[in-house]
Amino acid sequence: MFQYYCMNPIAKVGLDLFRENFKETKEIEAAEGVLVRSASMHDMEFSDRLLAVSRAGAGVNNIPLEKCAEKGIVVFNTPGANANGVKELVIAGMLLASRDIVGGIEWVKSQADNENIAKDAEKIKKKFAGTEVENKKLGIIGLGAIGVKVANVAKHMGMEVYGYDPYVSVDAAWNLSRDVKHVLNVDEIYAECDIITIHVPLMDATKGMIGSEALEKMKDGVILLNFARDLLVDEKAVLASIKAGKVRKYVSDFANSTTVGQEGCIVIPHLGASTEESEDNCAKMAIKEMMEYLENGNIKNSVNYPKCDMGVCDKAGRIAIFHKNKANMIVKFSTVIGSKGINIPEMTSKSKGDIAYSMMDVESPVTEELIEELKKIDGVFRVRIVK
Ligand code: MLT
Repeated sequence: MFQYYCMNPIAKVGLDLFRENFKETKEIEAAEGVLVRSASMHDMEFSDRLLAVSRAGAGVNNIPLEKCAEKGIVVFNTPGANANGVKELVIAGMLLASRDIVGGIEWVKSQADNENIAKDAEKIKKKFAGTEVENKKLGIIGLGAIGVKVANVAKHMGMEVYGYDPYVSVDAAWNLSRDVKHVLNVDEIYAECDIITIHVPLMDATKGMIGSEALEKMKDGVILLNFARDLLVDEKAVLASIKAGKVRKYVSDFANSTTVGQEGCIVIPHLGASTEESEDNCAKMAIKEMMEYLENGNIKNSVNYPKCDMGVCDKAGRIAIFHKNKANMIVKFSTVIGSKGINIPEMTSKSKGDIAYSMMDVESPVTEELIEELKKIDGVFRVRIVK
């Protein structure tokens, strides 16, 4: 029996997938699996029981990935599961910024008692006039699941689309419209594009990447869309650029005290993935990943451990070892296991940066004594009896 704990509400259609060997607990210390959406886990202490954290969403900046890796806690996310929801809001954000729809609606709201509103509306409407997106240049920084979808829709809207992503995956490249201009230097996007949208994860390397230096390289009157994470953008620099007339509008899906109520900013309360469909898709994916890992030790869509799949174990036992990616580890594991007279008919070892994960199916039942000996090997973070 495995226990799971929900740090945020998780869609029922996902929770319904849990098989009878999974049960919800209200005590996080008792859980082998934690499901989370946006709650921050950075200041949490993790119990020794915890094996997996599954985030129903793409961004994982609310989870301490390294700390989890060193404790042998596998962190999953749900890439692509909410990409359509976010894409639709990005397109809406682009249209809201190009036409003064927000200003117009606010004016209408303020005229509730005006009996001449129809006539006055015709007089005032020029104040809210905007521009169309057709034939404009859209620059997309980051061609993951969301960036690719935005690019393809924008092409259908008659835009000239520039895409920049030095790490684009083969899958993303296959899905991308052939008409998207592949840019090798992000400066080309800054110099050429009328509208720029950012779709990269928040990491040390990307924090503040849109700052005054990047803003200076952009065209006058540029529209900036941020549906990725607020800290990717130096928002104080953006406010200064709005005042200076460099940035026409900044659309952000992250409400904070820097941008709220500021001239030129359209701020949305993180609604990108807040659709029934996205919430359902994310919950289903997060729960399937967690079940597969807890039941079989197989890892898919982890952000801190490598992908690894040995199917369902049909041998006497399965051991999973979380360790540093360094020389001689496999030799040491098999020496310890072999010294107990235990045969390893199947094994696999995968790595991701400095971290590695090895699984071994063994022909005799796994004992606590064996596990204790494996744990003593230098560079091992955790050893788990999967079966
Ligand atoms: C994501 O990271 O998937 C999106 O920002 C949506 C969300 O956090 O719910």
